Amino acid sequence: MNWLSDNVNLLSLIGAAAIIIITGFVAGKYIKQMKTDKSTGELTGDDWDGIGEYKNPLPMGWAIMFLLTTIWAIWYFLAGYPLNAYSQIGEYNEEVQAYNDRFESKWSNADKETLKQMGKGVFFVQCAPCHGITGDGINGKAQDLTAWATEDFIVHTIVNGTKGSNYPLGEMPAGLLDEESAKAVAAYMVEKISKTGQSKNPDLVATGEALWATCSACHGEDGKGMEGSAPDLTTYGHAEFVVEVLNRGKVGVIGNMPAFNDGRLTGIQKQAVGEYILSLTE
Ligand code: HEC
Ligand code: HEC
Repeated sequence: MNWLSDNVNLLSLIGAAAIIIITGFVAGKYIKQMKTDKSTGELTGDDWDGIGEYKNPLPMGWAIMFLLTTIWAIWYFLAGYPLNAYSQIGEYNEEVQAYNDRFESKWSNADKETLKQMGKGVFFVQCAPCHGITGDGINGKAQDLTAWATEDFIVHTIVNGTKGSNYPLGEMPAGLLDEESAKAVAAYMVEKISKTGQSKNPDLVATGEALWATCSACHGEDGKGMEGSAPDLTTYGHAEFVVEVLNRGKVGVIGNMPAFNDGRLTGIQKQAVGEYILSLTE
């Protein structure tokens, strides 16, 4: 049995057994004395309605056990379970970690469709309470994910700015460009930076490229965010960007979104929910 192979358990059991046996002996001895009424010794002199008290010393065995128990309790508290090696929480965490590792390796090569299905499950549990069952943001209470990360949304972001994910460069200010120029930059971004597909304004791509300098100041010439100073826009519209949002959280304009970096979701689950919410705009 493996609970016997644990030496702290074994020691506790031996101690408990010794205490029971010694208590049994001592109690037996005194009960016998009471029955035969042959006890001897000096009385304390106190007398409660005829009931006296002997000045007998503590039984040696009991006194030793009492002392040993005290020492053991101190050892147990300082070096035994509570502050040392083992804890149920620790065991639970290890089991969760082992399960998550298996989960991660099992789904490490999952295709997009599988991830989308997995992400749907994650979304309903973790995201729908704020973003709504359909992801529409429940009348503006949270980001409307059915319109997020689209070409139109890039225009919206450029015109209105964005903030709250704690990047070193801080906020992206509103009004960097007017709506027409923003449309051109969005077209360039969709086709050349984030490469999410064909822009709906392909004729504006060249104009957008010329205006990209407005963005490259913070996001870099290549859009990669200058080593974490601002978001990496080459992943915008892909699941990786969502993973980044989930790791950072957002204290934005609409409201607060918590970070999901406390182990609640595994890396694969974040990627999966990313694939799922991006499919909401299709
Ligand atoms: C002053 C620096 C700065 C400039 C200039 C700038 N950005 Fe940003 N941008 C940021 C920062 C910082 C964030 C992250 C904000 C946050 O969520 O905390 C960001 C976020 C974004 C996002 C992600 C929005 C989201 O939903 O998370 C997009 C898209 C974007 N920028 C596009 C652009 C484009 C296109 C331009 C050029 C017109 C541009 N940015 C110019 C600093 C800048
Ligand atoms: C407690 C409520 C809450 C929960 C739970 C929540 N969100 Fe959000 N989320 C928000 C709010 C509010 C915003 C808007 C922040 C802003 O821009 O003001 C937001 C914004 C977003 C954005 C846009 C971020 C950006 O940079 O523009 C994405 C993507 C997103 N959430 C995805 C998710 C996913 C995926 C989940 C589930 C794993 C989730 N959210 C769970 C409240 C929540």
